[in-house]
Amino acid sequence: MAERKPLISGNWKMHHNHFEAIQMVQSLSYQLNADDYNVCDVSVHPPFTDLRSIQTVLESDHIPISLGAQHCHQEEKGAYTGEVSAGMLQKLNVKLVIVGHSERREIFGESNAQINSKVKAIFKHGMTPILCVGETIEEREEGEAETKVRTQLEEGLQDIGRERIGAMVVAYEPIWAIGTGATATPEDAQNMCAHVRESIKSIAGNGSAETIRIQYGGSVKPVNAAELMNQRDIDGALVGGAALEAESFARIIQYRLH
Ligand code: PGA
Repeated sequence: MAERKPLISGNWKMHHNHFEAIQMVQSLSYQLNADDYNVCDVSVHPPFTDLRSIQTVLESDHIPISLGAQHCHQEEKGAYTGEVSAGMLQKLNVKLVIVGHSERREIFGESNAQINSKVKAIFKHGMTPILCVGETIEEREEGEAETKVRTQLEEGLQDIGRERIGAMVVAYEPIWAIGTGATATPEDAQNMCAHVRESIKSIAGNGSAETIRIQYGGSVKPVNAAELMNQRDIDGALVGGAALEAESFARIIQYRLH
């Protein structure tokens, strides 16, 4: 079985201006040590306006945290007021881009086809997509969770090569658990992440299914991180609220010690 290094990512959403962001990253870096980075990859995904400042802090202080973004537009450039392209992110040394977060799908109406174009744009610029998938509470109660996630993966990953799929990240985030304090039980999270891996197997083959990293997201906190991370098919976490403060995010990254 392939060894997959866990990836723990902080999605700050629309929180922290660039002054607050700098403080947060510096304080996070004081709490982490070489051992933490050896066993776990870490990324932070601040708002666009913070990216340049955080890039400077990470690079000048040699902090081995990857810079991430929360979103990008699929086109290279053009008349898309307010949007940012993958090429622009690459120039800031962004390594990972969240795509298809449920808030983007639900509030901004992003479709699987648009998400697929974004995944391609992210790869084209040498970055790694974190593709988010997940079901609503109604879909779960109607027994539709697996079908929904399977469709999001099939359509979101259309015409993407196997090797690329094997190198990317999928975040399984049940929508009912995001920002609500309600976490999926470790068993439910494991079952759905195993389903994601099975789906990847049929989309891109066994090799890609073995190497792709699958994160769980939805009210991950210091108290539940370890039991979620210890599940077989969970290779990391996408953390919202609990990633806004250095101390709680550091404790999640150090889940193995708690
Ligand atoms: P949460 O957010 O940890 O605050 O539930 C997770 C996410 O939306 O990625």
